[in-house]
Amino acid sequence: MFKVAVIKGDGIGPEIIDETLKVLDVVKEKYNHKFEYKFVLAGGCAIDEYGIPLPEETIEICKNSDAVLLGAVGGPKWDNPNGKVRPEQALLGLRGALGLYCNLRPALLYAPLRNASPLKDEIIGDGIDFCVVRELTGGIYFGERGRSEENGEQVAYDTEKYSVSEVRRIAKNAFEIARKRNKKVTSVDKANVLESSRLWRTVVEEVAKDYSDVTLDHLYIDNAAMQIVKNPRQFDVLVTSNIFGDILSDEASMVTGSIGMLPSASIGEGNIGMYEPAHGSAPDIAGKGIANPLATILSAAMMLRYSFNLDKEAKDIEDAVSKVLEDGYRTGDIMSNGMKLVGTKEMGDLVVSAMRK
Ligand code: IPM
Ligand code: MN
Repeated sequence: MFKVAVIKGDGIGPEIIDETLKVLDVVKEKYNHKFEYKFVLAGGCAIDEYGIPLPEETIEICKNSDAVLLGAVGGPKWDNPNGKVRPEQALLGLRGALGLYCNLRPALLYAPLRNASPLKDEIIGDGIDFCVVRELTGGIYFGERGRSEENGEQVAYDTEKYSVSEVRRIAKNAFEIARKRNKKVTSVDKANVLESSRLWRTVVEEVAKDYSDVTLDHLYIDNAAMQIVKNPRQFDVLVTSNIFGDILSDEASMVTGSIGMLPSASIGEGNIGMYEPAHGSAPDIAGKGIANPLATILSAAMMLRYSFNLDKEAKDIEDAVSKVLEDGYRTGDIMSNGMKLVGTKEMGDLVVSAMRK
């Protein structure tokens, strides 16, 4: 039996999670697995209920689960950047509390969605398929920050700081993943300016010695941002710091057509992981039944693969998603001429029936 802590969250979170649970029900029946769900609050809904974004009870239940499945958190209701409690603190808190230092964000262009990519045909070529490996519990997100007074005015600071062991473990993850893919790692940093990047680069090069079958190169972050739109096919695995990975993974998602398609996995030392779509809570379309549930459904597939070691079952979900796209069904975000427009529920049902076939 696999124990899953489910965080529906805010905005479109509940809708897309409901579709994902329908898909997991098929996996249950078809392969005779048992999933036990515990529904917990985090983000804006937890602020409303408890006054804090990440209640202790939520952390406890997540820690005692095999995986966390999360919809999305946040929304304009709680959007006060100066506020003491913010929904995003739930995400950072969970990543830290569960030790999820490695964030995998695959950027894969599904062949039937070529038209949804903003890139020109000749740039897409025979397809885009790379994976951003983002360090998730260090760097400027978790470094010392504060405010003080200098020369009679207020100043604010955040600190980018990495230790050798933090870089080493994420680099190892990147090389291991590359081994199972096309054996190429591109490490992204700003070593021409930042001391933390110079350490990053040295450590990645050291780790590379144990992976002579994998090619390593380095790019500066500004150049990497450019190369993703200029020639995305050069990439296999991109490994980078917390903040650079945050930015690059949004860019990567866009070249594949829609952020509504991209899953993500956050993993650590053990088997426990947190699985969530790469997109946010999309408050503008919440409750309308038009959100794309595929990124969350594909995140559940990653959960089966990385936390439960159920490769066949994961592939079953991924194949069903491909089939539905090949059959021409689209939610609004990936809609193009001549395709069949469907809503959130219908899209979930289509994946379910493709799996039952
Ligand atoms: C993401 C999000 C979060 C991040 C925010 C909401 C804290 O943008 O998961 O990419 O920056 O990590
Ligand atoms: Mn982000």
